[in-house]
Amino acid sequence: MKLFGLIGYPLSHSFSKKYFTEKFQKEGINDAAYELFELKQIEELPELLKAHSNLHGLNVTIPYKEKVKKYLDDIDEAAEEIGAVNVIKFENGKLKGYNSDYFGFKNSLVSFLDNQIENKKALILGTGGAAKAVKVACKDLAIEFKSVSRKQIDDPTYITYQDIDGDLLEEYKLIINTTPLGMSPKIEAFPDLPYSKITNQHYLYDLVYNPDVTAFMQKGQENGAKVINGLDMLIMQAEEAWRIWNNHQ
Ligand SMILES: NC(=O)c1ccc[n+]([C@@H]2O[C@H](COP(=O)([O-])OP(=O)(O)OC[C@H]3O[C@@H](n4cnc5c(N)ncnc54)[C@H](OP(=O)(O)O)[C@@H]3O)[C@@H](O)[C@H]2O)c1
Repeated sequence: MKLFGLIGYPLSHSFSKKYFTEKFQKEGINDAAYELFELKQIEELPELLKAHSNLHGLNVTIPYKEKVKKYLDDIDEAAEEIGAVNVIKFENGKLKGYNSDYFGFKNSLVSFLDNQIENKKALILGTGGAAKAVKVACKDLAIEFKSVSRKQIDDPTYITYQDIDGDLLEEYKLIINTTPLGMSPKIEAFPDLPYSKITNQHYLYDLVYNPDVTAFMQKGQENGAKVINGLDMLIMQAEEAWRIWNNHQ
């Protein structure tokens, strides 16, 4: 039996276990199992590896996406640039780290924009872990962007919410929410934007996937914008993890 799993803390709401267990059932994959491994500290990882010699791959979630790096033998280029690992592949006793959030976001964005990437400029709301993968993906797609933070940051690629007006929104047609605003159970929250300046030329991408339609997406839709939630990204990052574990060199 090939064992896969997720490390993090706490792990009460795991999409991955449900996704992979259903995938194994649907696709008749009988020699694989996916388990949750709640680690109170990342220092418990070597013990976990020793106890499960049939581990083939792990997903990594909060709060270990950065801390896990010191246990790896090798790290993929995009994951290194992002500074965070959410997939570990085991090969010949060695551990290599990847970031499948990056692929999930990048691939879902390309299809959301219907491949019309040229000349698109993006506002990336929030400056946390998810924003890092989004920024590297935008850079690799040659999408110019500004990061939007609640804090004033002394860097020309950063702005605050107060800097966003109609003129700026005319230039930046793609708005990506990487903040947790609007996530269940606080579904009425949304990023502070001048929504009346949003048009049918705008694309609003919300990384939040619960609820299906967030307040941010709803406000965009009311003004004719195209919108997407984070579910495609979540599914694509899981499938990318599966691809990495099974045939990625
Ligand atoms: N769909 C997917 O596959 C996927 C993958 C990863 C993450 N996500 C989702 O993405 C969201 C962010 O994840 P994360 O790990 O990056 O979270 P995080 O690090 O906790 O927060 C992201 C950033 O959001 C901003 N922020 C936080 N609270 C805010 C508030 N009350 N008002 C305005 N801005 C606020 C902060 O930036 P500033 O301090 O600079 O304002 C913060 O750095 C979560 O909802 C997560 O579920 C989805």
